[in-house]
Amino acid sequence: MVKISKELEQVLLDAEVFARTVHDSDRSGHDWPHIERVVRLSRELAEKERADRFTFILAALIHDVGDEKLNDSKEAGERKVRDWLDRQPIPHSSREHIFEIVSTMSYNGGHNPPMRTLEGQIVQDADRLDAIGAIGIARTFVYAGVKGHPMYDPEHPAREAMSAAEYRSGRQSAINHFYEKLLLLKDRINTESGRSLAVERHEYMEHFLEQFLQEWNGN
Ligand code: ADP
Ligand code: NI
Repeated sequence: MVKISKELEQVLLDAEVFARTVHDSDRSGHDWPHIERVVRLSRELAEKERADRFTFILAALIHDVGDEKLNDSKEAGERKVRDWLDRQPIPHSSREHIFEIVSTMSYNGGHNPPMRTLEGQIVQDADRLDAIGAIGIARTFVYAGVKGHPMYDPEHPAREAMSAAEYRSGRQSAINHFYEKLLLLKDRINTESGRSLAVERHEYMEHFLEQFLQEWNGN
Protein backbone atom coordinates (compact mmCIF):
# COMPACT_ATOMS: atom_id res chain seq x y z
CA MET A 1 0.00 0.00 0.00
CA VAL A 2 1.35 3.46 -0.90
CA LYS A 3 2.10 5.46 2.23
CA ILE A 4 0.61 8.93 2.62
CA SER A 5 3.27 11.59 3.32
CA LYS A 6 3.41 13.42 6.67
CA GLU A 7 2.26 16.62 5.00
CA LEU A 8 -0.81 14.97 3.47
CA GLU A 9 -1.59 13.16 6.75
CA GLN A 10 -1.77 16.63 8.30
CA VAL A 11 -4.24 17.73 5.61
CA LEU A 12 -6.46 14.77 6.55
CA LEU A 13 -6.28 15.72 10.24
CA ASP A 14 -7.22 19.31 9.38
CA ALA A 15 -10.09 18.03 7.20
CA GLU A 16 -11.43 16.11 10.17
CA VAL A 17 -11.40 19.25 12.34
CA PHE A 18 -13.10 21.22 9.51
CA ALA A 19 -15.80 18.57 8.99
CA ARG A 20 -16.47 18.24 12.71
CA THR A 21 -17.33 21.95 12.95
CA VAL A 22 -20.22 21.23 10.57
CA HIS A 23 -21.33 17.76 11.65
CA ASP A 24 -20.86 17.66 15.43
CA SER A 25 -24.10 19.55 16.04
CA ASP A 26 -26.14 18.04 13.19
CA ARG A 27 -29.14 15.94 14.14
CA SER A 28 -30.66 15.48 10.67
CA GLY A 29 -28.83 12.25 9.81
CA HIS A 30 -25.65 14.04 8.70
CA ASP A 31 -23.94 13.78 12.06
CA TRP A 32 -20.23 13.04 12.57
CA PRO A 33 -20.74 9.25 12.87
CA HIS A 34 -22.18 9.33 9.30
CA ILE A 35 -18.86 10.77 8.11
CA GLU A 36 -16.87 8.19 10.10
CA ARG A 37 -18.90 5.37 8.54
CA VAL A 38 -18.43 6.77 5.02
CA VAL A 39 -14.64 6.94 5.58
CA ARG A 40 -14.59 3.37 6.93
CA LEU A 41 -16.79 1.99 4.13
CA SER A 42 -14.63 3.80 1.54
CA ARG A 43 -11.52 2.10 2.95
CA GLU A 44 -13.27 -1.29 2.81
CA LEU A 45 -14.47 -0.83 -0.78
CA ALA A 46 -11.01 0.40 -1.82
CA GLU A 47 -9.33 -2.80 -0.65
CA LYS A 48 -10.17 -4.43 -3.98
CA GLU A 49 -9.42 -1.34 -6.12
CA ARG A 50 -6.30 0.60 -7.09
CA ALA A 51 -7.50 3.95 -5.80
CA ASP A 52 -5.52 6.91 -4.46
CA ARG A 53 -5.98 6.69 -0.71
CA PHE A 54 -5.39 10.35 0.14
CA THR A 55 -7.98 11.44 -2.43
CA PHE A 56 -10.82 9.19 -1.38
CA ILE A 57 -10.26 9.68 2.36
CA LEU A 58 -10.20 13.48 2.00
CA ALA A 59 -13.29 13.43 -0.23
CA ALA A 60 -15.11 11.16 2.24
CA LEU A 61 -14.21 13.46 5.17
CA ILE A 62 -15.51 16.65 3.55
CA HIS A 63 -18.22 15.22 1.26
CA ASP A 64 -21.16 16.75 3.18
CA VAL A 65 -19.54 19.98 4.45
CA GLY A 66 -20.97 21.95 1.51
CA ASP A 67 -24.30 20.11 1.37
CA GLU A 68 -27.06 22.50 0.32
CA LYS A 69 -29.25 21.32 3.20
CA LEU A 70 -26.60 22.20 5.79
CA ASN A 71 -25.76 25.62 4.28
CA ASP A 72 -27.62 28.81 3.34
CA SER A 73 -27.50 27.88 -0.34
CA LYS A 74 -25.77 25.52 -2.79
CA GLU A 75 -23.38 28.36 -3.72
CA ALA A 76 -22.54 29.13 -0.06
CA GLY A 77 -21.77 25.44 0.52
CA GLU A 78 -19.52 25.22 -2.55
CA ARG A 79 -17.70 28.40 -1.55
CA LYS A 80 -17.00 27.00 1.91
CA VAL A 81 -15.42 23.86 0.41
CA ARG A 82 -13.45 25.87 -2.20
CA ASP A 83 -12.07 28.28 0.39
CA TRP A 84 -10.88 25.42 2.58
CA LEU A 85 -9.33 23.49 -0.33
CA ASP A 86 -7.54 26.64 -1.56
CA ARG A 87 -5.73 26.91 1.78
CA GLN A 88 -4.37 23.34 1.65
CA PRO A 89 -0.79 22.52 0.57
CA ILE A 90 -1.92 20.20 -2.24
CA PRO A 91 -1.48 20.36 -6.03
CA HIS A 92 -4.06 22.28 -8.07
CA SER A 93 -5.14 19.10 -9.89
CA SER A 94 -5.78 17.32 -6.59
CA ARG A 95 -7.87 20.26 -5.33
CA GLU A 96 -9.95 20.24 -8.52
CA HIS A 97 -10.43 16.48 -8.30
CA ILE A 98 -11.69 16.62 -4.70
CA PHE A 99 -14.01 19.51 -5.53
CA GLU A 100 -15.42 17.63 -8.52
CA ILE A 101 -16.16 14.59 -6.35
CA VAL A 102 -17.90 16.39 -3.51
CA SER A 103 -19.90 18.74 -5.74
CA THR A 104 -21.33 15.97 -7.96
CA MET A 105 -21.77 12.99 -5.63
CA SER A 106 -25.23 13.81 -4.27
CA TYR A 107 -28.21 11.78 -5.52
CA ASN A 108 -30.04 14.97 -6.57
CA GLY A 109 -33.16 13.10 -7.66
CA GLY A 110 -31.03 10.96 -10.01
CA HIS A 111 -30.07 13.98 -12.14
CA ASN A 112 -26.30 14.17 -11.60
CA PRO A 113 -23.94 12.67 -14.23
CA PRO A 114 -22.16 9.38 -13.36
CA MET A 115 -19.05 9.75 -11.20
CA ARG A 116 -15.96 10.04 -13.46
CA THR A 117 -13.10 8.72 -11.31
CA LEU A 118 -12.58 5.58 -9.23
CA GLU A 119 -11.98 7.61 -6.03
CA GLY A 120 -15.29 9.42 -6.57
CA GLN A 121 -17.08 6.15 -7.31
CA ILE A 122 -15.83 4.66 -4.04
CA VAL A 123 -16.93 7.58 -1.86
CA GLN A 124 -20.29 7.80 -3.63
CA ASP A 125 -20.88 4.09 -3.04
CA ALA A 126 -19.93 4.43 0.64
CA ASP A 127 -22.34 7.36 1.05
CA ARG A 128 -25.13 5.45 -0.70
CA LEU A 129 -24.52 2.34 1.39
CA ASP A 130 -24.95 4.45 4.53
CA ALA A 131 -28.33 5.59 3.18
CA ILE A 132 -29.71 2.04 2.96
CA GLY A 133 -30.03 -0.96 5.31
CA ALA A 134 -30.71 -0.60 9.05
CA ILE A 135 -28.75 2.63 9.38
CA GLY A 136 -30.47 4.00 6.28
CA ILE A 137 -33.89 3.29 7.80
CA ALA A 138 -32.92 5.00 11.07
CA ARG A 139 -31.47 8.07 9.30
CA THR A 140 -34.60 8.46 7.20
CA PHE A 141 -36.94 8.57 10.20
CA VAL A 142 -34.61 10.94 12.05
CA TYR A 143 -34.56 13.26 9.01
CA ALA A 144 -38.36 13.17 8.66
CA GLY A 145 -38.71 13.97 12.38
CA VAL A 146 -36.36 16.94 12.20
CA LYS A 147 -38.17 18.28 9.10
CA GLY A 148 -41.62 17.74 10.59
CA HIS A 149 -42.65 15.25 7.91
CA PRO A 150 -45.01 12.40 8.87
CA MET A 151 -43.57 8.89 8.94
CA TYR A 152 -46.25 7.74 6.50
CA ASP A 153 -48.99 9.54 4.57
CA PRO A 154 -51.05 7.11 2.46
CA GLU A 155 -52.99 10.00 0.89
CA HIS A 156 -49.85 11.26 -0.83
CA PRO A 157 -48.24 8.32 -2.60
CA ALA A 158 -44.60 8.37 -3.72
CA ARG A 159 -43.77 10.29 -6.91
CA GLU A 160 -42.21 8.24 -9.68
CA ALA A 161 -40.44 10.76 -11.90
CA MET A 162 -39.34 14.09 -10.47
CA SER A 163 -37.34 17.15 -11.39
CA ALA A 164 -34.52 18.08 -8.99
CA ALA A 165 -36.73 20.84 -7.48
CA GLU A 166 -39.68 18.48 -7.01
CA TYR A 167 -37.36 15.97 -5.30
CA ARG A 168 -36.75 18.54 -2.53
CA SER A 169 -40.27 19.94 -2.27
CA GLY A 170 -43.90 18.87 -2.21
CA ARG A 171 -45.50 16.46 0.24
CA GLN A 172 -42.87 14.23 1.78
CA SER A 173 -42.92 11.37 4.25
CA ALA A 174 -40.30 8.96 5.55
CA ILE A 175 -41.95 6.00 3.79
CA ASN A 176 -42.14 7.89 0.47
CA HIS A 177 -38.41 8.51 0.64
CA PHE A 178 -37.81 4.76 0.32
CA TYR A 179 -39.73 4.63 -2.97
CA GLU A 180 -38.42 7.95 -4.30
CA LYS A 181 -34.75 7.29 -3.59
CA LEU A 182 -33.56 4.54 -1.25
CA LEU A 183 -34.91 1.52 -3.17
CA LEU A 184 -33.38 2.92 -6.38
CA LEU A 185 -29.83 3.07 -5.02
CA LYS A 186 -29.03 -0.66 -5.36
CA ASP A 187 -28.91 -0.32 -9.16
CA ARG A 188 -26.74 2.79 -8.99
CA ILE A 189 -23.71 1.37 -7.20
CA ASN A 190 -20.37 1.78 -9.00
CA THR A 191 -18.08 -0.89 -7.51
CA GLU A 192 -18.38 -4.67 -7.41
CA SER A 193 -17.80 -4.95 -3.65
CA GLY A 194 -20.27 -2.13 -3.03
CA ARG A 195 -22.94 -3.93 -5.02
CA SER A 196 -23.00 -7.09 -2.89
CA LEU A 197 -23.32 -5.04 0.31
CA ALA A 198 -26.08 -2.98 -1.32
CA VAL A 199 -28.09 -6.08 -2.27
CA GLU A 200 -28.02 -7.29 1.36
CA ARG A 201 -29.08 -3.89 2.71
CA HIS A 202 -31.74 -3.49 0.01
CA GLU A 203 -33.40 -6.78 0.98
CA TYR A 204 -33.40 -5.71 4.61
CA MET A 205 -35.28 -2.50 3.68
CA GLU A 206 -37.81 -4.41 1.56
CA HIS A 207 -38.52 -6.70 4.48
CA PHE A 208 -38.92 -3.69 6.79
CA LEU A 209 -41.37 -1.96 4.42
CA GLU A 210 -43.45 -5.09 4.04
CA GLN A 211 -43.73 -5.46 7.81
CA PHE A 212 -44.37 -1.72 8.31
CA LEU A 213 -47.25 -1.65 5.81
CA GLN A 214 -48.70 -4.85 7.20
CA GLU A 215 -48.75 -3.41 10.72
CA TRP A 216 -50.16 -0.10 9.43
CA ASN A 217 -52.95 -1.65 7.38
CA GLY A 218 -53.84 -4.51 9.70
CA ASN A 219 -53.83 -8.11 8.58
P1 ADP B 1 -27.43 12.72 -0.90
O1 ADP B 1 -26.28 12.42 0.03
O2 ADP B 1 -27.53 11.73 -2.01
O3 ADP B 1 -27.53 14.15 -1.32
P2 ADP B 1 -29.24 13.43 1.04
O4 ADP B 1 -28.14 14.19 1.70
O5 ADP B 1 -30.39 14.15 0.44
O6 ADP B 1 -28.66 12.47 -0.04
O7 ADP B 1 -29.85 12.43 2.06
C1 ADP B 1 -29.08 11.77 2.99
C2 ADP B 1 -30.03 11.02 3.87
O8 ADP B 1 -30.93 11.90 4.53
C3 ADP B 1 -30.95 10.09 3.11
O9 ADP B 1 -30.35 8.88 2.79
C4 ADP B 1 -32.12 9.94 4.07
O10 ADP B 1 -31.81 9.05 5.11
C5 ADP B 1 -32.23 11.33 4.60
N1 ADP B 1 -33.18 12.09 3.78
C6 ADP B 1 -32.93 12.99 2.80
N2 ADP B 1 -34.08 13.47 2.27
C7 ADP B 1 -35.08 12.86 2.94
C8 ADP B 1 -36.52 12.92 2.89
N3 ADP B 1 -37.15 13.71 2.05
N4 ADP B 1 -37.21 12.14 3.74
C9 ADP B 1 -36.60 11.34 4.62
N5 ADP B 1 -35.26 11.23 4.73
C10 ADP B 1 -34.50 11.97 3.90
NI1 NI C 1 -23.24 11.82 3.15
